[in-house]
Amino acid sequence: MIVRNFEPNDFSEVLEIESEAFAEHNPFIYMNFYEMNSECFLVAEEGEHITGFVVGYQISGEEGRIFSLAVRERYRGYGTGTHLLDAITDIFREKMLAFASLEVRLSNREAQRLYQKIGFIPCWIQHGYYSDDEDGIVMKKRLTPVTRSATGGFLNNVPNLPFRPVYRLEDII
Ligand SMILES: CC(C)(COP(=O)(O)OP(=O)(O)OC[C@H]1O[C@@H](n2cnc3c(N)ncnc32)[C@H](O)[C@@H]1OP(=O)(O)O)[C@@H](O)C(=O)NCCC(=O)NCCS
Repeated sequence: MIVRNFEPNDFSEVLEIESEAFAEHNPFIYMNFYEMNSECFLVAEEGEHITGFVVGYQISGEEGRIFSLAVRERYRGYGTGTHLLDAITDIFREKMLAFASLEVRLSNREAQRLYQKIGFIPCWIQHGYYSDDEDGIVMKKRLTPVTRSATGGFLNNVPNLPFRPVYRLEDII
């Protein structure tokens, strides 16, 4: 499996994966992402097929946002999601961004586990964020090198956070 930049030929497979993964379907937004922000639109390729994709963008001078991540159902559980997330956070790092952030449905425990595994911290709940009114959890990961602070414990790893982290999902669900 390789991770590479999205190309227009990948569009139909990306849309298939997107409609398999999400109830909300918005094909135009992906073409917009490609036109405006192609360096943060990545696909996973296995043989001749696209097996997953991730799309992100720079939301501020210090933060990269992951807009969408999905892996084709029969390819899930083999590390593709992890590889895509690693690749996009590397791009954010190259842009010298301090944080990566994303929003995940409260009910989406698989994705939450993946994000926590690679270092995203659940930060706060965005009530009624999704169109069906489900709450979203905002998760963030620090990307810049760690420096020690006097706060002790966990916060040593995430100094100068502009938010108050919730350490465990169990605390907020
Ligand atoms: C979330 C998603 C992208 C994960 O992709 P993936 O390729 O299966 O992820 P990985 O194989 O890299 O799995 C990494 C970790 O995710 C978690 N995970 C993945 N599948 C899981 C499952 N079925 N149950 C529980 N945890 C799971 C585990 O922590 C796993 O680590 P482990 O293998 O060491 O246990 C995929 O399930 C998907 O496309 N879901 C539908 C779309 C979606 O929810 N996108 C995220 C929106 S915020």
